[in-house]
Amino acid sequence: MDKETVEVLVRTGPGTRMGNLMRRYWVPVLLCSEIAEPDCAPVRVRILGERLLAFRDSSGRPGLIDEFCAHRGASLFLGRNEEGGIRCSYHGWKYDVTGQCVELPSVPALACKMKLAAYPCIERGDIVWAYMGPPDRQPAPPELEWCMLPPTHRYVSKRFQRTGWLQALEGGIDTTHASWVHRYELDHDPMHKHAYANKYIKADRNAVFDLEESPHGLTIFGRRNGEAGSHYWRITQWIFPWFTLIPPFGPHALGGHIWVPIDDENCWAWSINFLPDRPLPEEELQAMKEGKGIHVKYIPGSFLPLANPGNDWLVDRGAQKALRSFSGVEGFSIQDASLQESMGPMQDYSKEHLVSTDKPIAMARRMLARAARALEQGVEPPALDPVSQRVRAASVLLDHGVKADDWAREALRSLETPVFSI
Ligand code: FES
Ligand SMILES: [Fe+2]
Repeated sequence: MDKETVEVLVRTGPGTRMGNLMRRYWVPVLLCSEIAEPDCAPVRVRILGERLLAFRDSSGRPGLIDEFCAHRGASLFLGRNEEGGIRCSYHGWKYDVTGQCVELPSVPALACKMKLAAYPCIERGDIVWAYMGPPDRQPAPPELEWCMLPPTHRYVSKRFQRTGWLQALEGGIDTTHASWVHRYELDHDPMHKHAYANKYIKADRNAVFDLEESPHGLTIFGRRNGEAGSHYWRITQWIFPWFTLIPPFGPHALGGHIWVPIDDENCWAWSINFLPDRPLPEEELQAMKEGKGIHVKYIPGSFLPLANPGNDWLVDRGAQKALRSFSGVEGFSIQDASLQESMGPMQDYSKEHLVSTDKPIAMARRMLARAARALEQGVEPPALDPVSQRVRAASVLLDHGVKADDWAREALRSLETPVFSI
């Protein structure tokens, strides 16, 4: 990738091209449960390189405002969240969820002139989302399938990852790696075991890829050997700019991720499991909460994974030798995170060698760079229409005669069809 394109893709702060593109979408910011109640403790949020403060006011409205007081710049993290706003503890200036200063005790008449940067928020799918772009371009709220389900049908978690957002996203659309780093996990993880898919994934490590540009982003077709007369297809969806939907495993909950920049060298990796038509079974929900499947175990009281670069991701050479874990690292998400973090916080793109199985990565980069550059010319970004976001991934055997792209256009671009998961 040329240097200029790398710069377009990895820089997401205010005024950057990718930053401008991302700010045209609703940005997943934090879990609703992090600001669980009216007047609860505020939470410092770093997102797209901006230092912000999330809080919930007395009437329950979520707010996301500049972290620092307009008076002398003290952090409002130390403020008091009370009676409709957050009051700076230094000299008592108070701000509401729109960032408006509503009390300035020493010079009351000045309050109306003081306003902090603030972004409108919505709550959907257990997540507080903010819109950080031009006010006149605010899109309709997201309608990804998991967002629209009752809370009982879904589990959402997030973890801190020490890499830029792009190399994390690229892990999400690189479905070949399931045959390698995850191969031993497939048989015993509670959210993956007993799926027919595992047999094909393990038997054929050389998936062949086809791609289709779609209204939502990219549909990625990974073809492996199936039964006599059929291919096994893992069909992944990448939804602009940061959502992925994972091809499912047998009867287990469907899954997806969101990869959101904290700054250019750190990101939030969100992991979501959901069932379209029923509550998550208690046993699987419990396993998710314990960090199984695509979720992780944390350092208590934080979103920092217990296995992290500081402890070599708890690599277990015994497990590696005994074929319990391919890399010796435990758990799907930490297996991914460890390899991505091992590349450094920002991969040296000048040294990589992409091959044919990296087609989805190369294509996603091209599409992102194209959309970011086009936005500068006034071209509207893709997938802002919520209808385009209502797609599914699939794991399916298709007869040799069936064209997978034709099949997917019928079967996966609507949520009215059955789930295809083996
Ligand atoms: S610094 Fe916040 S009120 Fe003075
Ligand atoms: Fe993975």
